[in-house]
Amino acid sequence: MESLLIHHIGQLAGIRTQSRPLKGNCLSDFLCLENAWMLIREGRISAFGSMEEDWRGATHDPGASDSRRGPGDTSDQAGGPIREIDAGGALVLPAWCDSHTHIVFAGSREQEFVDKIKGKSYAEIAAKGGGILNSARKLAETPEEDLYDMAYNRLLECMRMGTGAIEIKSGYGLSTEAELKMLRVIRRLKQNAPIPVRATFLGAHAFPVAFKNNRNAYIDLVLEEMLPLIEAEGLADYIDVFCEEGFFTQPETERICRAGLERGLIPKIHANQLNRSGGVQAGVAVEALSVDHLETIGQEEIACLQGSATIATLLPGAAFFLRMGYPPARAMVDAGLTLALASDYNPGSCPSGNMNFVVALACIQMKLTPEEAINAATINGAYAMGVGQEVGSITEGKKANLIFMRPVPSLA
Ligand code: NIG
Ligand code: FE
Repeated sequence: MESLLIHHIGQLAGIRTQSRPLKGNCLSDFLCLENAWMLIREGRISAFGSMEEDWRGATHDPGASDSRRGPGDTSDQAGGPIREIDAGGALVLPAWCDSHTHIVFAGSREQEFVDKIKGKSYAEIAAKGGGILNSARKLAETPEEDLYDMAYNRLLECMRMGTGAIEIKSGYGLSTEAELKMLRVIRRLKQNAPIPVRATFLGAHAFPVAFKNNRNAYIDLVLEEMLPLIEAEGLADYIDVFCEEGFFTQPETERICRAGLERGLIPKIHANQLNRSGGVQAGVAVEALSVDHLETIGQEEIACLQGSATIATLLPGAAFFLRMGYPPARAMVDAGLTLALASDYNPGSCPSGNMNFVVALACIQMKLTPEEAINAATINGAYAMGVGQEVGSITEGKKANLIFMRPVPSLA
């Protein structure tokens, strides 16, 4: 694979020598190098520095000051070709790490969009068999091949908007056959996508109509039929539950997560979106990697998260599209929590995977600074999907999944 030398980078932003999740006020730690170059080998960040100092010498033989070469010299120390790219003063950032999406779905739910404009709430639509159940009906009728094509196009769409790692959930199947169909689609995305993909099993997204009056029978199906098959085929990395009034209770959530843990799936939970449902407490109890949404989080939940390693993932796109209040992000940072940002791309509550918009909403509506929002959407997002050592910052050895923006006066 040829090496790439990128020069005349206006600002190289998001540099870290040590990679770790950023807790509390460390969320604003941000290093930016003006007028920089970067060398990429085998798709990974190999070296970077300032244009004023060492760029050509360093690309030849890192650390050796007597090995500088002239501008025409374009082979690296291993003798392979180096392609040069003039970034023309671009701002270069680590790509977004979107740790919460539902991009495998069969179609849009635009009628519900209109219903919401006319005054129906997300919960009312769901209670009448719309929402997640609507998506499940459509998905059951859609062949795996078509689902794959649609999801792959959405993934490419997200990449074009700067996403460089993505987590994808099942949860529109709600039957063994359809949940496995979704997870197999995600497995193919994992194999074929040029960016890291992580798979989450969300069989406990809603109760299918047939189980409305027999909730335990559906939970048994998730635990006793779906989970063993998913483990046998190695189809998921994480387990998720929609802990919410009208969906799964706190004890049910904990039970499902523990069953997932026994099969090697770490929990990432939908918590406190519409109500204070106990989702945060459940997440902390099962040592979830993340609890996501948190639109209705209170002081009690913040205190509960304080002593834990669980990441608080905010999805301001969902609050925007559902016209809901935003989580108290500032108070959460000040309380020392680890905050991540993700899109929640899905056909109901957030029909967009645009992480630039998510970062803007985090600044405008939740009062995070640009540095905090970018960290939450890159390095902390990476840790919230288990790829923190691979992507999410400008660090030697990490994948060179980058965003190039046109020259701008500053990060803000
Ligand atoms: O994260 N709230 C639960 N699940 C998704 C929405 C699912 C849907 O409406 O299709 C969410 O918002
Ligand atoms: Fe979601």
